[in-house]
Amino acid sequence: MRQHVNPLSKNFDEIESIPSLIEMFDDSNFPLHLDIGSASGEFLFDLALSNKNWNYLGIEIREKLVKTAKTKVQEREMKNLYFIFGNANKIVNKFYGEFINNNLKSISFNFPDPWFKKKHHKRRVIQPGLVNILSKTMQKNSLIFVKTDVKDLFDYMDYTISSNFDFEIIEQTDLNYSESFNPNKVQTNREKYAIANELDIYERVYIKI
Ligand SMILES: C[S@@+](CC[C@H](N)C(=O)[O-])C[C@H]1O[C@@H](n2cnc3c(N)ncnc32)[C@H](O)[C@@H]1O
Repeated sequence: MRQHVNPLSKNFDEIESIPSLIEMFDDSNFPLHLDIGSASGEFLFDLALSNKNWNYLGIEIREKLVKTAKTKVQEREMKNLYFIFGNANKIVNKFYGEFINNNLKSISFNFPDPWFKKKHHKRRVIQPGLVNILSKTMQKNSLIFVKTDVKDLFDYMDYTISSNFDFEIIEQTDLNYSESFNPNKVQTNREKYAIANELDIYERVYIKI
């Protein structure tokens, strides 16, 4: 089991400068999907390779993983994939009022670190403050996808997002996946592990109203 990185550590107070969408992507007009806690980025590599008319942005707090992912992007000359290193809570704050939000169609939180102990819940990535910023920055009809194999974490995330009246639950049956960021339902690494080990998976999608 890897040791979780504490996002509240002073090491993550500073964030790297974030380039404009034009610098990140070949065609900055494509719809943009943001994956928070993208780890090594394999999920986003799979998506970016098969959906060339979407842009994908990953945020990850483990610097080494981001460095390796960035090198891979360069080697493969991928123009619709970008990674940012740092604490997503700080980085999303930076997006406030930025044009990135006009293109942002969806965000995924896939199997976030659970931080089981109550005194550590403040280290969980989904926080009321983060949801508040997202409610102010995301466009109407944009989507938040949440997935985890930890029921307690799911309940916490669901409560935190649902407490914000700018987001509503959308039934998965009402979703047109073929037009989403993930039309082929690519699985993340943790999702593959959960399925292989027959763990329950809890997921929900929210729409900005
Ligand atoms: C359990 S892993 C899941 C990785 C991947 N999403 C998956 O489904 O396989 C959670 C990831 O989120 C990252 N993470 C945790 N807190 C974060 C934060 N505040 N900002 C950015 N990344 C974070 C961790 O370093 C880790 O790579």
